[in-house]
Amino acid sequence: MKKSAAISTQTPRAILFDAYGTLFDVYSVGLAAEQLFPGQGQALGLLWRDKQIEYSRLVSSSRRGPALESVYQPFWELTRAGLRYACLRLGLELTPAAEERLMNEYRHLSAFPENREVLQALKQRGITTGILSNGDPAMLEVAVKSAGLDGLLDHVISVDSIRQYKTHPAAYALGEQATGLKAAQIVFVSCNSWDALAATWYGYRTLWVNRYKLPFETLGTPPTYSGSSLRDVLTLLA
Ligand code: LAC
Repeated sequence: MKKSAAISTQTPRAILFDAYGTLFDVYSVGLAAEQLFPGQGQALGLLWRDKQIEYSRLVSSSRRGPALESVYQPFWELTRAGLRYACLRLGLELTPAAEERLMNEYRHLSAFPENREVLQALKQRGITTGILSNGDPAMLEVAVKSAGLDGLLDHVISVDSIRQYKTHPAAYALGEQATGLKAAQIVFVSCNSWDALAATWYGYRTLWVNRYKLPFETLGTPPTYSGSSLRDVLTLLA
């Protein structure tokens, strides 16, 4: 695991995880997508995810009309909208049955295999654990349960309570509020480089888990640590 210069070596008091892409494999929808749309499953999975994230930024940073009303929609709705857009863009006919099948896949995404043992090891060492996610509470609850992670997480924090998505600082502040800790005492773990970057800017110690061997964002700030699997979290403990 790589570490950037002059980092606190203190054992973190809490580890907060991003959910989608970090604990849950958003590309596990690719198999069902491939069955429905042969030859297009992977492209659909990628575009669907990109559009979902783009929509989260769009509704966070925009307002409607002179009263500047919020245009927030819960992440589940953005996920559905992203799927519809991706199919239109790729010229795929999304029947209501196909939409329900793919949304149902999204509701029960596969969890990455090392999650449970890593969360168990953290609990054994008395470290506070949690999720800090753009997902709304209902979708997070189902995802956590179907991945068998309930009981291993002290906090499941959804930005839905403030209707602002990451990367807004108010979203990252929820992690401090829920744990009663300062960001510098917490390690925030994400496989999404934009999320790891913004959490670093906010003040968290961050672990970017680079599952897909991608470059990090080129905006001048590295994550505190980078690794290749969630197991790398355990190397941060004294
Ligand atoms: C999450 C998405 C953005 O917050 O990955 O879980």
